[in-house]
Amino acid sequence: MTTTTPGTAIVTGASTGIGAIYADRLARRGHDLVLVARNGARLEALAERLRAETGRSVEVMVADLTKSEDVARVEQRISDDPSVTMLVNNAGMLLEGETLDHSPGEIETIIALNITALTRLSAVAGRTFAARGQGTIVNIASILGLAFEIGASIYSASKAFILSFTRALRRELEGKGVRVQVVLPGAVRTEIWERSGRDVNSYPPEIVMDAGDLVDAALVGLDRDEGVTIPSLADEGQFAAFDGARMAMIPNLSRREPAARYRPAESA
Ligand SMILES: NC(=O)c1ccc[n+]([C@@H]2O[C@H](COP(=O)([O-])OP(=O)(O)OC[C@H]3O[C@@H](n4cnc5c(N)ncnc54)[C@H](OP(=O)(O)O)[C@@H]3O)[C@@H](O)[C@H]2O)c1
Repeated sequence: MTTTTPGTAIVTGASTGIGAIYADRLARRGHDLVLVARNGARLEALAERLRAETGRSVEVMVADLTKSEDVARVEQRISDDPSVTMLVNNAGMLLEGETLDHSPGEIETIIALNITALTRLSAVAGRTFAARGQGTIVNIASILGLAFEIGASIYSASKAFILSFTRALRRELEGKGVRVQVVLPGAVRTEIWERSGRDVNSYPPEIVMDAGDLVDAALVGLDRDEGVTIPSLADEGQFAAFDGARMAMIPNLSRREPAARYRPAESA
């Protein structure tokens, strides 16, 4: 596509928190926007402010991304609108408590939002952007995707899915002109905590980032073409060492013979 602007960015979960900051920053980078979430009044208020402050075109799309038909509307927008050049899969929810406390409905809801919607939208964006030879996909995971020990199990596992899936997608799209980034925030001061019955102020302030700093850092990571961005991690060598250990293990993970320690004891 020949365009003098960076095109339209679709941001899910844009009504507040990290998504609203992405909307702000991307509009200031020249993107037109489609803002997606359930709360139309909040989306419209943000859209109005961003139109006034940046002069960009900002559209509101009210959608509940736990509903298949609403995800389908966003999919269609990505595939049918040639101005769309960027997708930020940010909408997500936290489910506090332990696995055994959750109802089947709660489990279905978090998986539908954090995993199914993000995966469907990434797939259609990957396909569409690859065909056009340009585009950007940003998926918001969490450091809990690396550290289930310190978070709620289903939420942490959903973020581990996003980390693994997005890295695989980046590999699949190599050489096709599509940038793919997964962002792993630590604790960020947003409404997600109160929505899930937690007080973010119960954490030491030195481990909680402001949403503006988080998004600004994540965009620097995007500009550096990072596949994995961990804004809080001061020593990026730590992630490289972790990933190196994982990769060193790969050639040893599938073998005809079980490892020696698993050989059944000789029967007497
Ligand atoms: N805050 C943190 O500490 C933290 C840390 C790591 C990762 N993250 C991740 O960052 C992302 C943004 O989180 P946040 O902290 O900004 O959360 P937030 O303040 O609670 O905002 C969540 C956004 O997602 C939207 N949303 C929720 N359910 C939705 C649904 N069913 N359909 C469509 N939109 C929905 C919400 O809007 P509506 O209610 O209007 O639908 C809102 O715009 C999430 O993926 C989260 O897991 C956050």
